[in-house]
Amino acid sequence: MPKNKLTNDDLEQMVDTNDEWIRTRTGIKERRILEDDDKATAFMGSEAAKEALRERGISADEIDVIICATVTPDYLFPATACMIQNEIGASNAYGFDLSAACSGFLFALSTGGNMIESGRAEKVLVIGADKMSSIVDYTDRSTCILFGDGAGAVLLEASEDETGIVDYIQHTEGDTNLALYQPAGGSLNPATEDTVADRLHYAKQDGRTVFKKATVGMADVSAEILEKNNLDADDVAYLVPHQANLRIIDATANRMGLDSEKVMVNIDKYGNTTAATIPLCLYDWEDKLNHGDNLILAAFGGGYTWGAIYLTWGMK
Ligand SMILES: CC(C)(COP(=O)(O)OP(=O)(O)OC[C@H]1O[C@@H](n2cnc3c(N)ncnc32)[C@H](O)[C@@H]1OP(=O)(O)O)[C@@H](O)C(=O)NCCC(=O)NCCS
Repeated sequence: MPKNKLTNDDLEQMVDTNDEWIRTRTGIKERRILEDDDKATAFMGSEAAKEALRERGISADEIDVIICATVTPDYLFPATACMIQNEIGASNAYGFDLSAACSGFLFALSTGGNMIESGRAEKVLVIGADKMSSIVDYTDRSTCILFGDGAGAVLLEASEDETGIVDYIQHTEGDTNLALYQPAGGSLNPATEDTVADRLHYAKQDGRTVFKKATVGMADVSAEILEKNNLDADDVAYLVPHQANLRIIDATANRMGLDSEKVMVNIDKYGNTTAATIPLCLYDWEDKLNHGDNLILAAFGGGYTWGAIYLTWGMK
């Protein structure tokens, strides 16, 4: 996480909002912002990757694949995974970015898991990293309160027991109304003086519409993965939800019948860091996790994209 904090009080000085509104509507108290002009998503992703490798005690040249989930790549190309590969010295790895907005980490994790399961790769680094402050309009009170910067990384390897990714359910439903998107900078609306003047390079969101879709989508898919695997709330050690809004997380936990102590929540400290929320939860809760714990990871994001992963924790 970047060190610099952007609090609700700070935002009160920037737009017409207040701490109470933000806390009660979203659960967010502060977010982190990467202030250095010469650093971006690849920097944060590399820092997270280096820490994961240190913790595992292996060197970067043992990595086979790097998947970086992000919607804020350093450049549209080359991929941020290429920057990370170079920065950490993963000389034997190939890598690519995966774009699925707030479901990016989930989709990257299932993709990396499939590579391990097939035997095509032995060590896969899955990174979720976003410098949301680079596409947030700090004059738009409906979006600027929500997002923050951050990165998290996990290292996937084959397990020698039954632990690992057991099942996943993932969905995409192309949203022609574009309730959550970045209008310009892609091939349809390349950068021009007009797109910049019209502030079209910032993320736009119809919050109410996305909220309704996200609440139903995340709760449904989480309940569905429990049912499909004959699990009930007692079997689940933790829900690891994407951190977009505390009310969406609560609705998902209620639907699953989970008590609040079984739900990872750190949205108060970091806001919505897009692809980084789930690995940041795993990082914050790592000390509490035990070998064999059943975890349900769930996310919903722009696209629309959403899904849930059922895994058993293999460490410790
Ligand atoms: C953005 C979000 C927090 C807004 O909460 P909401 O309860 O839906 O609020 P609304 O958008 O209906 O706005 C309610 C009122 O608060 C106002 N408002 C919006 N932002 C505000 C802010 N930062 N401070 C104070 N008031 C604000 C609105 O203008 C509106 O006023 P009005 O009723 O006079 O028109 C919520 O819609 C949300 O979390 N959406 C999904 C976000 C998300 O998950 N995005 C990523 C996908 S993973």
